[in-house]
Amino acid sequence: MKHFISLHDVDNVQELVQEGIRQKANRFADQALGKNKTIGLLFFNQSLRTRLSTQKAAENLGMNVLMMNVGQDSWQLEMEDGVIMNGDKAEHVKEAAAVIGSYCDIIAVRAFAGLKDRDADYKEIVMEKFRQYAGVPIVNLESATRHPCQSLADLITIEEFKKTARPKVVLTWLPHFKPLPQAVANSFAEWVNKTDYEFVITHPEGYDLAPEMVGNAKVIYDQNEALKGADFVYGKNWSSYTHYGQVLSQDPSWMITKEKMDLTNNGLFMHCLPVRRNLKVTDYVLDNQSVVIPQAANREWSAQAVLKTILAGM
Ligand code: CP
Repeated sequence: MKHFISLHDVDNVQELVQEGIRQKANRFADQALGKNKTIGLLFFNQSLRTRLSTQKAAENLGMNVLMMNVGQDSWQLEMEDGVIMNGDKAEHVKEAAAVIGSYCDIIAVRAFAGLKDRDADYKEIVMEKFRQYAGVPIVNLESATRHPCQSLADLITIEEFKKTARPKVVLTWLPHFKPLPQAVANSFAEWVNKTDYEFVITHPEGYDLAPEMVGNAKVIYDQNEALKGADFVYGKNWSSYTHYGQVLSQDPSWMITKEKMDLTNNGLFMHCLPVRRNLKVTDYVLDNQSVVIPQAANREWSAQAVLKTILAGM
């Protein structure tokens, strides 16, 4: 694996899930791999889990870690080619990526969707520019359309908690007042499509994800119907893909409650976090019927599996 920008960079998803589980069981086994290697963690957006878990994973592997909030700690970066740089962006990504690549053996980048221009977001301009100009492997720490480190942690968590070989997994849209990216939902759908789980996606009309992300999932617009018999309920809000970036509904009846979880097969609630309590999911469900903390803890092993695999291929 040279880069980890999306699922398409992964040769064998099941093997990477198992690598995460192995790293968790023996976290310092591969320290020699990262010795005298440096990772640069670049954040264009805020983070709690991604920042800390990736730093921890890199250090478990013996790596040195550089971290920067792009645009706050550094110059703002121009992504467009051929423009006259007479605005507030003082440095072009062409130089910045190459310079950071000269200091680092791996660069990991977080850069969210702008949610204004679907074509631009779905071209993954920031990730692609870093891939083009850095000269070292690039890891996606959540981009405009995907969050693969999260999805890998999600699959590790399902593998750890599943009670049947082929669990029913339901990805459900949750209400929110702000327009949020589709990245987590997209990525989760893409990765679950690589398993043999029964996979259902439920959301109000107008919230269909991009067809290439939905894949073979069954889409049901009735949330109660979708939740019946679920082993895992994966909640997430996302803004509309078809009416790009818009909030079409804030229907509170889509919040996950104990009554909704009663429809499931003693199901477990999952969410990537951060989550707004009693807006998207009730206190009761989070405190009694969820695996959000072990799911977040698995971000460390997901990051470690990715970094180990890249380091091993260098
Ligand atoms: N789930 C996740 O990516 O969390 P952060 O945004 O806090 O990194």
